[in-house]
Amino acid sequence: MQEGEGFSSQLLRRFKSAHSVVVLTGAGVSAESGIPTFRGKDGLWKKFNPQELATMDAFKRDPRLVWEWYEYRRRLIQKAQPNPTHYAISDLEDKFGEFLLVTQNIDGLHQRAGSRRVVELHGNIWRDRCLRCGKLYDYREIESEEFPPKCGCGGTLRPDVVWFGEALPQEALSSALGAAQSCDLFLSVGTSALVQPAASLPLLALRNGAFVVEINPEPTTISELVNQSLRGKAGEVLPNLVGRL
Ligand code: OAD
Repeated sequence: MQEGEGFSSQLLRRFKSAHSVVVLTGAGVSAESGIPTFRGKDGLWKKFNPQELATMDAFKRDPRLVWEWYEYRRRLIQKAQPNPTHYAISDLEDKFGEFLLVTQNIDGLHQRAGSRRVVELHGNIWRDRCLRCGKLYDYREIESEEFPPKCGCGGTLRPDVVWFGEALPQEALSSALGAAQSCDLFLSVGTSALVQPAASLPLLALRNGAFVVEINPEPTTISELVNQSLRGKAGEVLPNLVGRL
């Protein structure tokens, strides 16, 4: 196997002959846009305790604190622009008849880069949901001046993201599982592959005969298991790879 920018002929052949492609992305894809990851050296979970900020118990205990935490993250994300990895994944979509992008990211940068077939496993930070009636709101259209804001029905709004201990949106998860099971090429980019059930998707693809490729500057739990692990920053490796297809 060749690493980094020297792609093996097997890798290029598998890409060129693929009919059905799934890409799984994690926080590392947005790192080059200036959005911190969760578990790296400067990762968010090194500085903040997820149990105090990203659980339903935390929200019940101190809704204002949890809202402030998401406001802080929205400000970070708002300043960010899609980077070459987001654009390369959007270009990849145009090259294959069957394609699904499965993202753990909640920042919406893939869609801003032009990706259309996107499944968001962990929700989206720009959408809110009423705890009482379930109504969904675009964050930018919320008129309530309360903090945290209220729904028309009087219920409290929460960010429409998945918190620790919560189930993933069922439809998103079943699309991701179905696509991972039936694809012939699976690309895992910028994820530590530590959080379930997303972390099981590359292994599911592998078990069902797909060629599985990982792009990450660091080794992960799946590096030894996949067909090829390309060690490098996604923004350097992926545009180069897509440019050769
Ligand atoms: P992590 O922070 O766990 O992992 C980020 C990964 O990106 C690491 O493996 C890094 O080595 C890698 N990385 C860093 N810079 C990169 C670059 N330039 N190019 C490619 N890779 C790079 O983030 P996730 O795996 O996304 O869940 O974490 C999964 C989930 O855990 C998140 O969705 C979030 C978090 O708790 C929820 O909030 C529900």
